[in-house]
Amino acid sequence: MPTNKKSALKKESLVKDIKKDIKEKVKEKKKRETFQSVKGIREILPEEEFWWDKFEKAVKKTAQFYNFRRIETGIVEQAGLFEKSLGDEVVNKEMFFLKSGGGKWVLRPEGTAPTARAYLQYGFSKLTQPVKLYYFGPMFRYENPQAGRYRQFYQAGFEIIGGENDAIFDAQTILGAWRFFEYVGLKDVEMKLNSIGCRSCRINITKRLVNYFKSKKKKLCKDCDRRLVENPLRILDCKKEECKEVAEGAPIFLDGLCSQCRIHFKNVLEYLEELKISYEIDNTLVRGLDYYNRTVFDFFYKGGEGKKLAIGGGGRYDYLMEMIGGRPTPACGFSLGVERVIEALKDKKGDMGEKKRSSVFFIHVGEVAKKRGLCLIEELRSAGIQVVESLSKSSLSKQLKLADKAKVELALIFGQKEVYEESVIIKNLKNGIQEVVPISKMVNQVKKKIK
Ligand code: HAM
Repeated sequence: MPTNKKSALKKESLVKDIKKDIKEKVKEKKKRETFQSVKGIREILPEEEFWWDKFEKAVKKTAQFYNFRRIETGIVEQAGLFEKSLGDEVVNKEMFFLKSGGGKWVLRPEGTAPTARAYLQYGFSKLTQPVKLYYFGPMFRYENPQAGRYRQFYQAGFEIIGGENDAIFDAQTILGAWRFFEYVGLKDVEMKLNSIGCRSCRINITKRLVNYFKSKKKKLCKDCDRRLVENPLRILDCKKEECKEVAEGAPIFLDGLCSQCRIHFKNVLEYLEELKISYEIDNTLVRGLDYYNRTVFDFFYKGGEGKKLAIGGGGRYDYLMEMIGGRPTPACGFSLGVERVIEALKDKKGDMGEKKRSSVFFIHVGEVAKKRGLCLIEELRSAGIQVVESLSKSSLSKQLKLADKAKVELALIFGQKEVYEESVIIKNLKNGIQEVVPISKMVNQVKKKIK
């Protein structure tokens, strides 16, 4: 073969190889795996910090005001705890089961049963009764995610366990929630209230309901058809429009209450009136968890454009301890859905609640100023001044751009000359006025200017 042809062929095959190489690289890049958060898992992002802080502060203040003490139970619990206390609807449809290690564990779907379990496990019945506990943490429900409904969400809960079976505790529980709404600054809250009676009046109530629902069987959804046999009370809780309509005509709970439950509910209402807490009795309110008896309630936020959010709820659960192996123990409590309360707060105020946090931007010029700046920034922060810095950047213009982005009022400029003279420049970024102050007076001067 002539040398010319040979070298042309060589060139061609080289180009082919390069092209192949490029193709492979592009393919590989496309294949590179990236990850997303899991569906329904609501994460807390930095821009929401203000709201979460506000919520947590209000929880703490409420707890301190009424002497609740904090408890944080494990996120993983034995499945049996919830199987015994919440009812099949939640257990079969909404629980995250964990398979590792051969045990039957779940991610907790709520905080009341774990708190009751801890009360038994740690012998809290030996303490002065009732025991008042509160918690704040993530819960997990395998629900269909949609706006305001997540598979991981946070709850803050308050529980009063033990003591007498006195309606005063139901009222004090609700008062706690009211105090929280006041602390967090949420005014447009509505409370719906009902009594679902005790075991003995429940038999009577269930009979009446079954007779009524049987007469309307054709109008009920498939799930409620099953509920009619397994748990007729739950039909009242169905969110389907056709079932809601049927529920509206159902026999009234309060008519079926035994005399003790009737007196209990009457007392709750009287205490609420004394406290000037407004409520609306809702005959169809049963709440979705099996452990409730007597008083049950839901809190709703009502915003503009017909917005209605179930932001919390609770009630009495006198049988829960027995359900999970303890002695009969009166108890009541409530939990708040953190994301939903925050959504309500944002709806009310718009997104303007966030306070400007950073007060000064520290700008350094040169290596010596960078090193010395480390301690100056510490000094400012120790004095309670919020400092934004960018010590890793050496370019002055880049630092100025960042200061502008941070929307701070003051910049502290520290260069070679200032290091030598033991001074710092304080520059007002709004009007451009700057002054040189000795380092010994830096903290005081900055504090005066950011007041
Ligand atoms: P709950 O009604 O199931 O009650 O939940 C309380 C609140 O948690 C709801 O009103 C709602 O704001 C929020 N929540 C519930 N599920 C979700 C979800 N999937 N996504 C976002 N937020 C949600 C309980 O959990 C009882 N432990 C309350 C209680 C305490 N009863 C007595 N003591």
